[in-house]
Order: sequence, then C-alpha cells, then structure tokens
Amino acid sequence: MIKIIQTVLLTLSLALILSCKEQGNVEKKTESAEQQTTPSYQELGLNYALSAKAVLGKNLIGAIKTKGAEHALGFCSAKAIPLTDSVALALNVQIKRVSDKPRNPENKANKSQLKFIMAGKQILAQGKKIKPQLQEHDGKMIGYYPIVTNTMCLQCHGLPNDQITQATQKKLDDLYPLDMAKGYAENELRGIWVIEMDKK
Ligand code: HEC
Repeated sequence: MIKIIQTVLLTLSLALILSCKEQGNVEKKTESAEQQTTPSYQELGLNYALSAKAVLGKNLIGAIKTKGAEHALGFCSAKAIPLTDSVALALNVQIKRVSDKPRNPENKANKSQLKFIMAGKQILAQGKKIKPQLQEHDGKMIGYYPIVTNTMCLQCHGLPNDQITQATQKKLDDLYPLDMAKGYAENELRGIWVIEMDKK
C-alpha cells in the first residue's frame, strides 16, 4: 500500500518536474499513518530533487512572467547551476541536473547516468513511467530521478524558429554555441536529477 502511494506521488511529482519552471510542492508529500518509518534514501533523494526544482521553478517562473522566455533564458543561464548548488549546500547533499543532450556542457551525463537515460527513453517510448534508480558508490547513495518535458519547456527546448522564437534562438546561439538541448517534444526525457547523499 505504502509502495503504491509512493509510486503515485512520485509519478505525479516527476511528471511535473519543470526544472527551470514550475513551483514544486516539496512539503506536500502525504504522510499516511503507516509512513512513519525512516524514509529511504530513494525518498530522501526525491525530496532533495523536488526542493531544487522548487527553487529553480519559483525563480524562473517569475522571470518568464515579467519578461518572457527570451529574457528568462538569461536568468536560467546565469542562475540554474548556482541556485542548484545553494540548495545542495543548504541540504548538505550534492545535486546536479545532467542530460545526454546538454545545453550547458557542464551538465553532460557520465557513462552510468547515460545508461539510465537511454533505458529511460525506451521506457517512456513504451508509454510507461520511468522509475528512479538508487545505487551505492564510494560510501555515497546516489539517486537518479527523471526530468520529463511538458509543453512549457518547448519555448526553450523545442523546435528552433518555431516553438523557440527567433529572438530566443538567437540568444541561445550566443550563450550556448554547443547547445544540444533543442528539438524536444512533450513527454520526452530531457535529463535527470542526480542526488548524492552521504550514507549514514
Ligand atoms: C526560458 C528558457 C527555458 C525554459 C522554459 C526551460 N529551460 Fe531548461 N534550460 C534552459 C537553459 C538556458 C539551460 C542551461 C542552464 C545552464 O547553463 O546551466 C537549461 C538547462 C536545462 C537542463 C540541464 C541540462 C542541460 O541541458 O544543460 C535540464 C534538465 C532542463 N533545462 C530541463 C528543462 C525542462 C524539463 C523544462 C520545462 C519543464 C525546461 N528546461 C524549460 C532554458 C530553459
């Protein structure tokens, strides 16, 4: 039962992962009476990912509302990594967003992350949900959590000069000459959150 609730919550939350866009509801994870045992690393990691997402989202959504996607882009470019880092520092974990097709080369997925992403794409293509993955490495617990696109992402990650306006495209070209993060459709795997936690 708990597992089912968790899976449903997780699926809902992850479907909403807007990384750069939308406000998350980190605190709203339902607490059923049964669920008072120590949370698993997988749940902890999810909450960390959602915290980072909430912070990015709150900031970016403000930028888009006041100035539109083209200018919000500048915000995302300057602030996505520092904001993620500050959340990680506050929570005492490591948080990264990585992709097989990164916009910022610093967000390039490594071999193990790529493997998860490739498998995840196939799962999505079959209309199924991607389950997070947890592994232990060098005394750390590392969680991978999918980041899936929705319509809103496409104004910066969709088709150039179509969903991405010419003005936005121009700015992207200036900021990211090696940009690979275009041409996405809705409900595709854009990347993953990588959460690294000390094992206690
Ligand atoms: C206003 C433009 C904009 C919107 C809208 C936007 N992004 Fe991004 N996204 C960016 C920029 C710019 C970067 C590069 C940030 C950096 O330099 O660290 C980025 C980076 C990312 C990354 C990190 C990997 C990489 O490619 O560098 C992920 C994952 C991501 N976006 C997912 C999403 C998802 C999912 C959505 C929609 C829910 C979304 N983005 C909406 C502009 C945007």
